Amino acid sequence: MKDLIIPKIDSLLHGGDYNPEQWPHESWIEDMKLMGPAKFDVATVGVFSWSQLETADGAYDFEWMDEVMNLLHSNGRHAVLATPSAAMPAWLSKAHPEILRVTEEGVRKKHGNRVNFCWTSPVYRKKVKDIATKLAQRYGNHPALAAWHVSNEYGDRCYCELCQDAFREWLKVKFNNDLDALNQAYWTAFWSHTFTDWDQIEIPGGQLREHSIIGLMLDWYRFSSDQIIDFYLQESEPLRQVSPDIPITTNLMGFYSVLNSQKLAQYLDFASWDSYPCFIDHPIDSNDWAAVSMTHDLNRSLKRKPFLMIESTPDGSNWYPVMRLKRPGMHALETAQAIAHGSEGVMYFQWRKGLGSSEQYHGAVIGHDGTDKTRVYREVCQSGELLHGWKQLRGTSTESKVAIIYDWEVNWAIELTHAPRIEGRNYLATARDHYKALWESGVSSDIIASEADWTHYRIVIAPMLYMLKPGVAEKIRKFVASGGTFVMTYWSAMVDDNTRAIQGGYPGDLRDVFGIWVEETDCLYDSERVRIESTKGNSCDFAGQFDASQYCELLHLEGAEPLANYASEFYAGRPCVTRNDFGEGEAFFVASRNDDAFQREFLNMVVERAGLLPALETVTPPGVTVQVRHDEKIDYVFILNFSGEPQEFKLEDSDLLDLEGKSIHGSIALETNGFKVLSRLRSSISCPTVEHQEAGIR
Ligand code: GLA
Ligand code: ZN
Repeated sequence: MKDLIIPKIDSLLHGGDYNPEQWPHESWIEDMKLMGPAKFDVATVGVFSWSQLETADGAYDFEWMDEVMNLLHSNGRHAVLATPSAAMPAWLSKAHPEILRVTEEGVRKKHGNRVNFCWTSPVYRKKVKDIATKLAQRYGNHPALAAWHVSNEYGDRCYCELCQDAFREWLKVKFNNDLDALNQAYWTAFWSHTFTDWDQIEIPGGQLREHSIIGLMLDWYRFSSDQIIDFYLQESEPLRQVSPDIPITTNLMGFYSVLNSQKLAQYLDFASWDSYPCFIDHPIDSNDWAAVSMTHDLNRSLKRKPFLMIESTPDGSNWYPVMRLKRPGMHALETAQAIAHGSEGVMYFQWRKGLGSSEQYHGAVIGHDGTDKTRVYREVCQSGELLHGWKQLRGTSTESKVAIIYDWEVNWAIELTHAPRIEGRNYLATARDHYKALWESGVSSDIIASEADWTHYRIVIAPMLYMLKPGVAEKIRKFVASGGTFVMTYWSAMVDDNTRAIQGGYPGDLRDVFGIWVEETDCLYDSERVRIESTKGNSCDFAGQFDASQYCELLHLEGAEPLANYASEFYAGRPCVTRNDFGEGEAFFVASRNDDAFQREFLNMVVERAGLLPALETVTPPGVTVQVRHDEKIDYVFILNFSGEPQEFKLEDSDLLDLEGKSIHGSIALETNGFKVLSRLRSSISCPTVEHQEAGIR
C-alpha cells in the first residue's frame, strides 16, 4: 500500500515558498513561465501575507490571492496554502499590545520580526482562527489547493502573565490539584522551596527566575510545548472542518528543542521540515550529511510514513556565518538524499530573491538578475527532472528494523540537570554517533520517542536514556524478554519522569535485564581519553582496542558477560561493554562514549547477531551510504556519495538493475557528490535466517 501524503499531486513534488505579494503583478506571469522548465508542481503561498490579506481589523482583501490561486491552477500547478500567523500586522499589535511576547527577563517585546506572539493570548488566538476560517472558506475547495501549511516554524516560549496563569492551571491538572504531590515530585524541601499555595508557583528559568527546581523547569518546558500544540490545534481547526480531505502540516525544524515534534506529530497529516545543512565553520562533510539524513529519518519516523522536505535552499543561506556556495552536484545529491530517506519531494525557500529586508541575499531559485541563465536555476531544473523521472517512488515505504530512541523530554531532562558536565552533555551528538555508524553500513534506522510502538523493530538503541517515563522500564523488559535486542549506554535509567533519582542502584528496575549495577560516572576533560579493549574469547567475537572520551561509568557485573574492559585509568580491568541474556533476547550496555571505530565494530556486530542484513552485500567506502525505499515488488536502492571525493568500488550484489531494467554488474563509480538509483526485485532478497526469509527483511 502506498502512502500518498498529498494525494492531489501525482509525482514527487518540486516547489517552494512563493511570495507574489512582494512583487508587481507583471512578474507573476514571468514566474509562471520560469516555473515551467524548473518543473515546479507546487508553490507555498501566504506564509507571511497577513497584512495584505487583512489590511485593517476585519478588512479582508482576498482578491489578489484569488488571482494567485487561479494563476497557479491555470498553469497546472498546485498551492500549499499557509495560514499567516507567524508574522502579525502592525495594526494588530498596536491595538492589542498584550499579544506581543514576553522574554525570560520579563520584558515585553516590541512589534516586528516574526513568531513574536504570546501562545496563550485569547485575542491573538481569535484573530488567528478568524483568518484561518476565512482562508478555509474561500480556498478549501479551490482546485489548486493541495495541502495546508499552518503558520511557520512555531517556536520559543512566552513568559507573560497569561502564560503564567495557564501554566499554573496545567500544573493543577497534572497533579490533580494536589500541591503536596507536586512538592514531593519536585523534592522542594530542598532550599526551603516548599509551595503552600498554587499562586506561589512562577514560571522558572534564566538567572532572574527560579531555576533550581529541575522538575518544575521540566514541566515548564512540557507546558510551553503543549501550549504551542494547543495553539496549532485552534489554528488548524477551521481548516480541518471546512476541508477535511486536504492534508495539514506545519514546517518543523529538525531537532529544535522547544517544540516536542514527537508529540505534535499525532495531529499532523504528514510531517514536514526545513532542511538547511549547517556549513557553520567548515565545508560540509560526511558527518554533517549523516546528521541531515538522521533528521530526514526523524521526520519519516514521526508518523512512520513518507514526509516532505518543505524548505531547503537552492543555494546558500544568508544566516550562515559564511555564505559558501553549494558546490556543483551538491544540489542533486541533496535532492536524492531527501527522496532516499522518504521525502515526497524537494521544496525551497524561496522562489524569487527579494530586493530588500533581512533575507534579500538568501539563496533562491531566481536571483536578482531575474533570469533563467544562472547555475542555480539550471541545477534546480535538473532536480525537477530527477524528481519527475522518479514517479514510481511516490508513496513508497522504508523498512527499518532498527530504532534509535531520541526523546524530546529526555533531552530536556538531560539539559536541565546540573550534572555531570556543565556544557556538552551531547545527547543528540551521542544519538548521531550511533546513527552514523548504521548509516555508513547501509542499515536504516527510525528515530523514535521512548513511548513509541517498538513492535516494528528487532533492535532498539537507547543512547543516554537518562529519564524513564512511566512504563518504559517495563517495555524494555518485555521487549528483550520476547527476543528483542536492546542497547543502552551510560547516563541511562537514572531518574523518573519528574527527574527524581531512581533509588536502589542504577539502572533501577533494569538491573536484572542488563545484568549490571552502575555505581559511578566519571566525566573526562575533553582532551582526555581512556583506552578500552575487547575481552578475550567473548561470545560475540567482538575484538579491538578503542578510545573512550567524556563519559566512563564504573559498573559491577551481576550476571552480564563483559565484551570489553577499560584498559587505562584507575578502573583499568573493569567492564565497559556488557551483554546479558534475558528471556529470548539480549541486552547490551555501553558504559563509555566511544570513538567511531568502536561504533562501527560494535553496531555491525549487534546487527549481525540480530540477523539483519544491510541494504547491500557490498561494503561501501566511508562516506557512502545506501538507503532503500520499496513498494510491494521493488526495492529502490540509492547509493549516495557524501565522502567529498570520487569513489569506485566492486559490486558484490548480483541482483541490481538500473531504473530502465538493465542489469548492473562489476563496479560502481561515483563522482564527487555523485549518486546512483538502482532497483531490484524484493523477492530476490536473500536472508540468512529462516525467520528473516519469511519476513523478507532487509
Ligand atoms: C526558515 C523560514 C523561512 C526562511 C528560511 C531562511 O526556514 O521558514 O521563512 O526564513 O528559514 O533560511
Ligand atoms: Zn504569553
